[in-house]
Amino acid sequence: MTTTDQALPHYPFSTRGDRLADELRGTCPVTRVTTNAGHEAWLVTGYPEARRVLREERFRRSRVADEGSPVQDVPVFAPELLDAMAYLGRAGLLEEARRLLSDLPDLPEEELRAEARRGLEEMVAQGAPGDLQHHFAERVAGPAMCRVMGLPIGDLPRLRHWADTDLTMLLPTEEVHRNWEQLRDHLLERAQRCDPGVPGLVPRLTAMNTGSDALTPHQLANVLGVVFVAGYEDLASFLGGAAFHLARMPGALAQIRTDPGAVEGHVEELLRYSVLMGNALARICTDGTELGGRRLRTGDLVLVSTDAANYDPATFPAPDAYDPSRRPNPHMRFGHGPHYCPGARLTRRVGALALTELARLEGLRLAVPPQDVEWHPDRMAIMPAAVPVLW
Ligand code: HEM
Repeated sequence: MTTTDQALPHYPFSTRGDRLADELRGTCPVTRVTTNAGHEAWLVTGYPEARRVLREERFRRSRVADEGSPVQDVPVFAPELLDAMAYLGRAGLLEEARRLLSDLPDLPEEELRAEARRGLEEMVAQGAPGDLQHHFAERVAGPAMCRVMGLPIGDLPRLRHWADTDLTMLLPTEEVHRNWEQLRDHLLERAQRCDPGVPGLVPRLTAMNTGSDALTPHQLANVLGVVFVAGYEDLASFLGGAAFHLARMPGALAQIRTDPGAVEGHVEELLRYSVLMGNALARICTDGTELGGRRLRTGDLVLVSTDAANYDPATFPAPDAYDPSRRPNPHMRFGHGPHYCPGARLTRRVGALALTELARLEGLRLAVPPQDVEWHPDRMAIMPAAVPVLW
């Protein structure tokens, strides 16, 4: 393990989502940084270099939990937390999990639209200024994830608390560990008591987890926990960040309102343009190599910033311009390669329906200057603390 060199810049540079940090716009695609844990790492910001790291086998995510490996922030408590989909694969559950997340056979679109509408109506009824993180982003993300998982909506306050704590980077390890145990035990109990006739990942995967390679109940609950936390936090951050950006772009809101076919282009560009990564995608280099002109050694920690890659001007001309007609738009928001996000389709579908509802609110605008919007200070997924708006 390498130790801290005070002269190196500290990553993350910012936990604000209003703009990409200047340090991530460097001309050098691979640089040396220190992490929250005080270890050294390679930070990858160039688009081709980021794709290479996420695609090549020599850069392994599973090795991030190895004893003695340099780390980014909190340690990982169980191997299935890093390799959730591989565990599902070994138990013969991967295909069904992917089908449920990509075909979305049970996604109650009308119910989610109605939830978005009710949240916004309540905000308006309470009077300006309103808060789109609370009344819109979390309001849609929570029920969407409960429905996809097959969990009761009444579980949401506890699930949200566990998910939020789990993705806080700087809490003491024991607290994060205790929090994870509570989430896992809750899902364990839900899995044991669930009605197999209810749609969703928890009942279906529990019912199918019977073969000779079945996961232990603890392993399955860990995997289900990863899916809930990843899905809820990422959706709530994306929708909150998207609301923040759109509240500054009346033309974009008007286009979504008047041309229903336009929303997909906006979702795609918001996925590229948003700054969502509190921490980066971590890999361990298992076979030394050259990357972006630097020599990486076996055992080195490699951190990929897809936020930075999405602003690489060689791939995205005029990256600071918000352009919903950008084609192609090969952003890396959902990663790349073997760990590509299985929730991408769900995010696109929920994003499109939620932003369509948001755009109905005419005259929507930020209630404060953008620089006064507060962001959670230390989350792995960058999320506004509140998005104060007028209409
Ligand atoms: C804007 C929303 C989202 C973003 C930005 C996002 C981003 C990502 C990224 C970048 C990865 C790759 C991680 C890596 O390479 O190490 C990933 C993986 C993953 N995502 Fe998402 N995600 C989002 C929504 C969701 C949703 C809604 C779900 C669940 C319903 C989900 C579940 C997962 C899971 C389980 C993995 C691990 C996949 C694996 O290990 O193979 N994500 N996500």
